Amino acid sequence: MVSIKDAVVLVTGANGGLGQEFVEQALERGAAKVYATARTAREWNDDRVVSLRLDVTDADSIAAAAAAAGDTTVVINNAGIYTHGDTITGTSIERIREIFETNFFGAIQVNRAFAPILGANGGGAFLDVHSVLSWLGVAGGYSAAKAAFWSATNSFRVELAAQKTQVIGLHLGYTDTPMISMVTDEKNDPADIVRAGLDGLETGEHEVLADDRAVAVKAALSGSIADLYGLSAE
Ligand SMILES: NC(=O)c1ccc[n+]([C@@H]2O[C@H](COP(=O)([O-])OP(=O)(O)OC[C@H]3O[C@@H](n4cnc5c(N)ncnc54)[C@H](OP(=O)(O)O)[C@@H]3O)[C@@H](O)[C@H]2O)c1
Repeated sequence: MVSIKDAVVLVTGANGGLGQEFVEQALERGAAKVYATARTAREWNDDRVVSLRLDVTDADSIAAAAAAAGDTTVVINNAGIYTHGDTITGTSIERIREIFETNFFGAIQVNRAFAPILGANGGGAFLDVHSVLSWLGVAGGYSAAKAAFWSATNSFRVELAAQKTQVIGLHLGYTDTPMISMVTDEKNDPADIVRAGLDGLETGEHEVLADDRAVAVKAALSGSIADLYGLSAE
């Protein structure tokens, strides 16, 4: 269980919809400092925010951010990419590799770089942003990469328990950010998702299912694949 009050929070992909919300809500909850990291650093009008360049696909950039942010106690592993309509059969293998470089390899490299820092600072926490699509293979390489990151989060949780680092996974469906501006379906308010994630962190959860869709899909995993995907029995 980790309190955001007085914590030093680092957010990846901080310029995005959920990322910006994580920065703002961490400040509202009394964070002592927030490292708002992004591929292109921007101005934040708050003395507690330190703008830092961090491209999760660039190992040197991750190492430099870790060197600059050695007082971090909470990492929000949020950066990600998505293209609507991707498939596992039709999308180019190069694009699928790009998705894995960001959403899987980039994400785990961030946690690997910051695990010793959190350990040295008393344990702290990682909050890994997953998706309902971690459990539903309908978005090609994105689903596969989010499933892989979910699995890695579970491994981090077990491996980092000895150093008292909390590792929490956040699962959500469509949420109103630039990532899915093309989607017209009903979307969550990013503020509600971030609040659920930070509440889970502060109450010691391992996993947060932030909306009804995430709850329903996770529950359906214990049923038949045919039911989950609406397939007719052969
Ligand atoms: N919105 C949804 O419906 C939804 C649903 C489930 C899960 N998610 C997950 O939620 C997280 C946040 O997404 P969002 O909805 O807030 O989308 P977003 O507005 O597109 O934000 C994504 C952020 O990730 C950053 N990013 C991309 N590649 C990066 C890299 N190589 N290094 C560092 N930062 C990088 C982007 O930075 P640039 O500004 O530099 O491009 C952007 O700020 C993602 O992990 C996403 O997969 C979103």
